[in-house]
Amino acid sequence: MTLALRGAVVAVTGASAGIGRECVLAFAREGSRVAAAARRLDRLDTLAAEVHALGAEVLVLKTDVGDAEEVRRFVQATVDRFGRLDVLVNNAGYGVRGRVEDTPAAAYERLMRVNYLGTVYGCLAAIPVMRRQGAGVIVNVSSIVGHRSLPTGGAYAATKAAQISLTEALRVELRGSGVHACSVHPIGTHTEFGEVTARESGGEDVAGAVGPQQSARNVADAIVRCAKRPRPEVYPYPLSRAIVWLAALAPGLSDWLAWRAARGAGRL
Ligand SMILES: NC(=O)c1ccc[n+]([C@@H]2O[C@H](COP(=O)([O-])OP(=O)(O)OC[C@H]3O[C@@H](n4cnc5c(N)ncnc54)[C@H](OP(=O)(O)O)[C@@H]3O)[C@@H](O)[C@H]2O)c1
Repeated sequence: MTLALRGAVVAVTGASAGIGRECVLAFAREGSRVAAAARRLDRLDTLAAEVHALGAEVLVLKTDVGDAEEVRRFVQATVDRFGRLDVLVNNAGYGVRGRVEDTPAAAYERLMRVNYLGTVYGCLAAIPVMRRQGAGVIVNVSSIVGHRSLPTGGAYAATKAAQISLTEALRVELRGSGVHACSVHPIGTHTEFGEVTARESGGEDVAGAVGPQQSARNVADAIVRCAKRPRPEVYPYPLSRAIVWLAALAPGLSDWLAWRAARGAGRL
């Protein structure tokens, strides 16, 4: 299946910064009509002006994805405004850094609510619309750490693994419906993510990223390609697939490499 993005309706959560913001701009450049959600409305208004300058139509809505009703309202507002929904990018998310034993229960609960349940809420709102249309693409932005967790990243990685499991079931359930579900697995990406992670982890120095880094534009371009030609899983940094294979084939060796990399980055 190949989706023509000119005139397509694309909704993106977590659009006020980083990967989500780049996605909105990338889809707008393709001629799509875009709906953008996040909590910081001032950022969304600035983004809307940039989208208008590209000649595309845009809707922005202040939305906390940790609230099912707000996500439902965002998807409904998109359909009310543009008449359909072709692509939903469940991208909103944040991180917390800390050893499993040092991370408070409330931090796990909030992370799951935003990163995982936010994705669930998006799917629940979009699937009926897309099934009625007989077409649509749901793109869930997970992470490479959803396949292979790193020390001091367990609470966050578990939410990314949960997104992968959900997407695996969903894409099989949707077979034959014309609706596709895909997961995206970026490596470390230059965005506000590190800053937010430090803040959410009590403002401490949470040490460096592990491994190579890519740009948010690079991830957004991979998401656009996936919307055009849906794939089960997308690795914007292709070599990162090796991490997945190694984790499946040699978990003990993966543990050792994760330990070494985390030590090198000052996480342990
Ligand atoms: N950066 C990386 O290294 C990396 C690597 C792999 C995967 N990812 C994933 O990529 C996605 C985007 O992250 P990013 O790197 O672009 O980070 P970012 O620059 O911090 O952007 C995160 C976006 O999510 C939004 N957001 C956070 N909590 C929200 C909530 N409760 N409701 C609605 N929106 C919320 C933020 O908007 P508001 O604050 O305005 O609400 C912001 O627009 C996340 O799912 C992240 O897990 C990131």
